[in-house]
Amino acid sequence: MAAAPLAPFDYAALTAALGDDACRFDADAVVECDSTNTRLMARAEAGAPSGSVLVADIQTAGRGRRGRIWHSAPGDSLTFSLLWRFTPQSQAPAALSLAVGLAVAQALETQGGRGIALKWPNDVLLAERKLAGILVELVPGAPKSAVIGIGLNLRQPAGLPDELHGSVAAVDELLGMAPSREALLGAVLKAAAAIFDNYAAAGFAALRPAWEAHHAYAGRIVRLIQEPGIERDGRCVGVDDDGALLLDTAAGRERVISGEVSLRPA
Ligand code: BTN
Repeated sequence: MAAAPLAPFDYAALTAALGDDACRFDADAVVECDSTNTRLMARAEAGAPSGSVLVADIQTAGRGRRGRIWHSAPGDSLTFSLLWRFTPQSQAPAALSLAVGLAVAQALETQGGRGIALKWPNDVLLAERKLAGILVELVPGAPKSAVIGIGLNLRQPAGLPDELHGSVAAVDELLGMAPSREALLGAVLKAAAAIFDNYAAAGFAALRPAWEAHHAYAGRIVRLIQEPGIERDGRCVGVDDDGALLLDTAAGRERVISGEVSLRPA
């Protein structure tokens, strides 16, 4: 049986959740699109303003990092993208994806969530399972503009492939219930605006202590994969002022700027 359609997006509820920050955002909610990142990128390239938001009930081709598919089911996830244009004087957006992870964590904390952790570079975890994924894409020809895609699990997504069961967390288990998508979207956008203001003025260095306070793997032994088949183990030290992961390996301290880390299998 097909799932019942969701109630229409309540723009007034989003405006209320955004409060004083409502004027900084322009949200568009659609029932279905291929990927909110793909659609918003096209709008960005056509000149859409900073603060443009595209939220979709259904994505038919949701994209994750490193070419992966992002699975979500209508009503079980909040899937949206945000266009942010930093001023030319702002810090380079190299560590932006870490800043976004922190914004999601802080937004969930404003709703009462506790125990949220960040896995470098930008997964949001609960009890070592993935609560939210983030895909940051720079707008071609506009290096300080980015489309920031966020997929936040509200409930365990229906139809999840078997291999992903056990690795997914959801907001309803974090908060005891899932808030409305408008309330949650408003909380994430508000947190993002505050974090981006800080990031633009002072760079990731200003956010680093808060990020490290949420670091899921601080002091733990992890396996880093940078290319398929190329992996090494090391102890996570933390992150530096540019958002690079600091890893103590057999070869000494390494500064990692790309790759995937996971806890080393026992
Ligand atoms: C990841 O963890 O691999 C990143 C997942 C990002 C998913 C979101 S859902 C909204 C936006 N649109 C997409 O196609 N992807 C991002």
